[in-house]
Formats: sequence, C-alpha cells, structure tokens
Amino acid sequence: MRGDGETELAESTVGSGTERAESTVGPETERAESTMNSRTEPAGSTMNSRTEPAGSHVDSRMEPPESAAGPEWWARAVVYQVYVRSFADSDGDGVGDLAGVRSRLGYLELLGVDAVWLSPVYPSPGVDHGYDVSDPRDVDPLFGTLDDFDGLLADARRHGIRVIIDLVPNHTSDQHEWFRAAVSAAPGSPERARYHFRGGAAPPNNWQSVFGGPAWTRVAPDDEWYLHLFAPGQPDLNWAHAEVREDLEKTLRFWCDRGVDGVRIDVAHGLAKAEGLPDDRRQPGWTVLTEDAPDPRFDQDGVHEVHRLIRGVLDRYPGRMAIGEVIVRDDARWAAYVRPDELHLAFHFGLLNCAFAADEIRECIDRTLAAAGDTPAVWTIANHDNPHPVTRYGSLERARAMALVTLALPGSAYLYNGEELGLPDVDLPDSALQDPAWQLSDGVRRGRDGCRVPLPWEGEGPGYGFTTGEPWLPMPESYGELTAADQLEDPVSTLSLYRQALELRKEHPAFRGDEVEWFGAPEGCLAFRRVGTTLVCALNTSERPVPLPPGDVLLTSAPLEANGDLPPNTAAWLA
Ligand code: NOJ
Repeated sequence: MRGDGETELAESTVGSGTERAESTVGPETERAESTMNSRTEPAGSTMNSRTEPAGSHVDSRMEPPESAAGPEWWARAVVYQVYVRSFADSDGDGVGDLAGVRSRLGYLELLGVDAVWLSPVYPSPGVDHGYDVSDPRDVDPLFGTLDDFDGLLADARRHGIRVIIDLVPNHTSDQHEWFRAAVSAAPGSPERARYHFRGGAAPPNNWQSVFGGPAWTRVAPDDEWYLHLFAPGQPDLNWAHAEVREDLEKTLRFWCDRGVDGVRIDVAHGLAKAEGLPDDRRQPGWTVLTEDAPDPRFDQDGVHEVHRLIRGVLDRYPGRMAIGEVIVRDDARWAAYVRPDELHLAFHFGLLNCAFAADEIRECIDRTLAAAGDTPAVWTIANHDNPHPVTRYGSLERARAMALVTLALPGSAYLYNGEELGLPDVDLPDSALQDPAWQLSDGVRRGRDGCRVPLPWEGEGPGYGFTTGEPWLPMPESYGELTAADQLEDPVSTLSLYRQALELRKEHPAFRGDEVEWFGAPEGCLAFRRVGTTLVCALNTSERPVPLPPGDVLLTSAPLEANGDLPPNTAAWLA
C-alpha cells in the first residue's frame, strides 16, 4: 500500500481483463437495493452524441436542440474547468492568459475532455480574481484581447472542444462604470437604483458577507451604505431594475454571437434579495446550506425570473447551454433551477461536500440523482473554491478512486484543472495569500489560494513550464514531480488514469444509461451498475481488501491485491 501523498504507483493499474468468478459485492446478493428505478431515459435518447466522429462538434453546434443525433452535448460531457490565471502563461508576467490556454489545447484534446469552462477573463481590478467584473463584454489586458478570445474559440473547435464562459450576474466590480456613476451621484439618484443603496447611521440590516464581515459598506463617511454579499469591491446589482436585466441579455447575446457554447452562472442562487431586506434571523455563522433556515440573502423566488430570461436568450441560439452554481438548503428548491424553462444544468455539490465514506457517498449520489430527476446530473469533486481532492480526501489514492466513481456516474462531469495531475493544495505562507475570503475573515479562513497554485507543465522551478517569470502564487518544489510532461510518459500516473478513464467513458459501450442500481456491498464499500448496461463501479473506503463483483476489470485506481481483491482506498470499473 502507498502512503498519503505518494505520487507514483508501482504497477500498472489497467485491468487485466480477467473474469472474476467469486464475489461478495455482487448483484446476485442484493439487486433489490436499487433505489434509482424512477429515472427514465429521455424519449429519443440514443446517446449518439458520445459516438460522434472527432470534429463533428463544430458542425453540429448550430443544429436544433433535440436533433435525431440524441441528447444535447452537455448532457454527458466531461467539462474541464480552466482557472485561467493558473493554467498557462504566454507572456512571462506570471499570470495565466488566453494565449496560454490556446497553446495547451492539444493537451486538453489528449486528455479527452469535451469542453472547457473558462473562469472570468473580463476587465477587472482582480479583487476576487475576476469575479469582480468592470466590463462583462470585453477581455482584461492581463488575459489578452477579444481577438485572443476569438482565436481560442476557433482553435478549440478545431480540437473538438467546446467553450463555456463564466457569467457573474449577481454583482459587478466597484470599478464598473455603473457603480462609479452611482458613487458620484446623489442618494436617491437613478444611478444608485441599479444597486442596493440605503441611508442611515448604522448598516441597514445584519447581513454578513460570504467572505466575512458586514455585507454593507459606506461609499464615504456620511454617505449611504451599499450591499455586497461578497467583497466590498463586488457591489450587488438590483435585479428589480429593468436596465440590469437588459444588460445581461446584451451580454449573453454578445458572447453567443461570438460563438461560445455555454455559460456558467456564478451565484445563480443570489441575484434576488428578500423583499424589504429583512434581518437574517438565523443563528450566527449559519451558512446558506443550513437546512430549514431560509436565508434572506439567497434563493429568493425572484431568481427564477432571471433564469427564465437567460434561458429565453439561449433558446435563440441552438446548442447553447447554461449551468448554474446553485447552493440552496433543500433539493426541492434546488430542482426549481433546472425546470424546463430555466437553466439546463446546475451543480449540486453533494459529492464535493462528501467525506470519503461509502455510505455517505452512496447517499450523495442518490440525493443528487433524485434531485435532478429527468435533468442530467452534474458531478464534480473539485473547483477553484475548494481544496484539491488529494488534500480534501487525505491522499492521492483516495482522490484517484473518487475520480473513477465520479466518471462512472450518469450525467456530466466537471473536472478542475490540476485534478488530473493529482495536485495537492499548497500550504502557502501568509505573505503569499491573496484570496479576499482570507483577508476579510481576518485570517480565520485560509481562503482558496491553496487550490489555485499554477499547474506544473514541465521542467524546473520557479515556473515549471507554467511561466517563464515568477508565478503569481509560488509553486512548491513538490509540484516538480507532478508535471504534465512527466505524467504523460508514465502509464500509471494520475494523468494516465484520467486519460484512460475518459477514453473508456467515451468509447466503451457499457457507459450508457441514466440510472444506477446498487449492489449489496460489505461495510465501507459500494458498488453500482449503470442500469441496462454491464458497467459496474466498485469503491472500497474500508480498511481491508474486499472481493470484486464479477466482470472483466476495465480500469482500477490502484493495483489490485495479489489475489485480485480490491484494496482499501481504491475503485474499479468492471464490465
Ligand atoms: C462563486 C465563485 O465560484 C467564487 O470564486 C466567487 O468568489 C464568488 N462566486 C463570488 O463571485
């Protein structure tokens, strides 16, 4: 067995293809346990989109949504989140950029992803690294130009990769022309009506910012307060204002006309605020996720009007999609975001918040599928707001096992850049930390910088092929052993595991079906099958090896025991 954080496997993890005769994790023991029988294949679904010839993405993008080719591309896509600042730097300033992304499209094609989601690249002071937008219809010089964006889009198409951009409708930057005009204008002016301004000696209510501290800041002493649910540099827009809605339509059309394939909606549960901005009556410290405690800042019924507006625009551009970042307190409310006239998909975040424990994971999967209903589920174990899986689960072995679980599930999967290299979070010195979530919580929270350290591509430090300059966050020496170049050459690297998994997911006929059924499994283990197929995924989170279910081993996240058993902290695919 390997210890935590080790980066190499001793033997090939690709299965031998031998049939396994005996099992205690088999369907024969408890097929009745299936809990997902109500999920039915959508009418006309043939999943042909997974077998399109390379390059056909481009030509099919403008076809009607429900074409005879099967479900839309996004229903089963593997999407790779590019945190642009940290992906690849083309000009040596230490910050990733669009030309950098463009230069690495070959890598993404080799990895086998269907699409990329780009973190925001709009003009921005960078208080929240681009989630504070001062112009939603342009590109920040730090990342390049609109021409670079168009070039990236065109090249991505040539590589058979679709492009999703990140829209930030809940707030702008305090440097957005609207907010600057609002600050210069008088209380009660039309300029201030696009935001939430209120007068008074004290903050208008007790709301806290998500990053820490009050959600209200004064524009100047003796002037009004403005609302910001995140950093003070991110004033919240007033979604009751017609110009705010019109401007989002304009932004959507601007990017759809350029040819983007989809939009990720930041804080899709934000936007509308409780009528009258009442005090938050919940326990101090409760989060938006706290059950049975409505949060006046988020998930107000009014948000759905905005999502209908977004859908209305996208429906005029066949093949385009919207996926929402939706964090709400119950699954029924979550499901409302993916009603037929709202967002196409929504992150559920069940797995992202789940411990490495089979029973919890199984419950998360069931909950996510049940909430999604007929909408494709979205699976993710990593993003730019959370520790890398290696760190969160406590070992590379576990992260690799969870990758196989995630990629075996029906629906689409979102990977976070660096996840495929098995990068751990970096414990940065305080002096290097930049996240407002660290600064505004007075250092109580470490923030999110640790998972945003740039990707090691090849060679030596300090830039490891990410940059020829100094990376914007220091890259540790340990990243030198995890470079993409080295891992491409190593058949048992984490990168090779992801490549094999994505290839199987795309090509193997067993990766079909929208339902899962559970097998009986020993304590600390789980095994599910994609209904109507032979694909079985087994996971062992217990401390002892267990026999595998019957079937040919397609892929395992670590070598099997000498007797063929599934070791602890390991997952296997069988068919
Ligand atoms: C969610 C984004 O994922 C996060 O990075 C950002 O800080 C907040 N929204 C505010 O825009």
